[in-house]
Amino acid sequence: MTGMDKKSKKSLRIKIISMGNAEVGKSCIIKRYCEKRFVHKYLTTIGIDYGVTRVSIKDRDVKVNIFDMAGHPIFYEVRNEFYKDTQGAILVYDVADRQSFEALDAWMTEMQNEIGNQSEMDNVVVCVCANKCDKKRTVDEAEGRVWADARGFHYFETSAQTGDGVTEMFQALFDGVVTASENGGKRAPVQTQLGYSKDQIDAIQKLKSAKNDYERLGLYPGATKDDVNKAYRKLAVLLHPDKSVAPGSEDAFKLLVAARTALLKRCQ
Ligand code: GTP
Ligand code: MG
Repeated sequence: MTGMDKKSKKSLRIKIISMGNAEVGKSCIIKRYCEKRFVHKYLTTIGIDYGVTRVSIKDRDVKVNIFDMAGHPIFYEVRNEFYKDTQGAILVYDVADRQSFEALDAWMTEMQNEIGNQSEMDNVVVCVCANKCDKKRTVDEAEGRVWADARGFHYFETSAQTGDGVTEMFQALFDGVVTASENGGKRAPVQTQLGYSKDQIDAIQKLKSAKNDYERLGLYPGATKDDVNKAYRKLAVLLHPDKSVAPGSEDAFKLLVAARTALLKRCQ
């Protein structure tokens, strides 16, 4: 009897929701975690799916209530009442669908509007899932990380198809929620992965999106050898892989070196 009492004292019930555009893979991520399987066929969620899973976190039995929301706008009326009392959320986008990444702010706004209370909102533990990372991407890791870091959210690259990142993501989510509930519901700050600066991220983005070598170095046709070397050095300081841990540094540095070499040849 005492054993059971002890156990029930330690047990905890938590509420998790899923958010993100239709077809980004919310249901598949949950299925991958709970059932260890993946379905290729798209079965859109109608309104809400509800499921329960039990896990053990920090010596506690945790009953996790998962509310898997439909992403399509027509289901807004159904899902809006499920935001309240949420302790953790997976906020999902598809790395091959830029629109789904751009929609993340709108999802946070929807949650904010339904929850209302700012401190309750601030204490929701959020895991951003850059899902379908098995596919050819249009949103790179740096962009997703910066978006999540700036808001104090966790960031994970996931694939419901291969299973990559899914267990780690849920582990962090449950840990975050249990830690918060032990702390009177207050969310602990996320260990920021930012060992890099916004300048570095901006430089990487610019190098990647530039249309030619001049643009890569921020120069114009007619630039001298001196201009090229100067511009190169400025960027190399930011991006040298020995110094920068910003995601994408290595590729950006390669682009930078190639651009400099090509332009120097042209100056001769
Ligand atoms: P709604 O319920 O309509 O809001 O969509 P959802 O976000 O729940 O999407 P769902 O999980 O149903 O997945 C949508 C489609 O994407 C399905 O055809 C899945 O097979 C596919 N899918 C989900 N995750 C992945 C993934 O990691 N990689 C790949 N390649 N496909 C995935
Ligand atoms: Mg779904």
